[in-house]
Amino acid sequence: MNTVSVCFVCLGNICRSPTAEGVMRRLVADAGLGARIEVDSAGTGDWHVGEAPDERAQRAAGRRGYDLSVLRARQIGADDFERFDFIVAMDDANVTALRQACPGARHDRIRLLMDFAPQPASRVVVDPYFGGAAGFETVLDQCEAACAGLLDVLRARLAG
Ligand code: 4NP
Repeated sequence: MNTVSVCFVCLGNICRSPTAEGVMRRLVADAGLGARIEVDSAGTGDWHVGEAPDERAQRAAGRRGYDLSVLRARQIGADDFERFDFIVAMDDANVTALRQACPGARHDRIRLLMDFAPQPASRVVVDPYFGGAAGFETVLDQCEAACAGLLDVLRARLAG
C-alpha cells in the first residue's frame, strides 16, 4: 500500500504550522486515511524547539475541536527533505529559508500552503505571533480551506 507524507513549515513551529498539522490530522482521520498519509510540522528557526504550541493557537484551535497540546516544536532538518513528499510553507520567508537548506533535487517538494486553497484571499499565511487573537482565527480559516484542497491532491497522489 503506497503512502504519502506532508510536513507543514513556519518560522517557530508554535503558531501556524502546528495549527495546519492539527487541522490536517483531523481531515486525514475523518477520511480514514491515517495509515496512508503521514502529517508532521517543523520550524525553520530553533528558538522554540521542544515547546508546546503557543497558548493562543491552542485556545483558538481548541474552540474548533483541534487538540494541539501534544505537539512539540522542532526545527526542520536535512533528513526532512528526503522523508517528506510535500514540504508546505506558510509564507515566502519560509520558502526562502527552506530552499537554502534543501538540496536542489528536492526543491520541487517545497510548496506554499495557500496554493492548495480554492479561492485564497491571500497567497500566504501571515505570522500571528505579534498580533491579536483575530490573527489566530484567520490562520485557522486559511488552514481549513487549504488543507481540504491539499487532501484532494494527496488522494490523487495515492491513487496515481
Ligand atoms: P510561527 O509564529 O512561525 O507561526 O510559529 C512565530 C512564532 C515565534 C516567533 C515568530 C513567529 N518568534 O519570533 O519567536
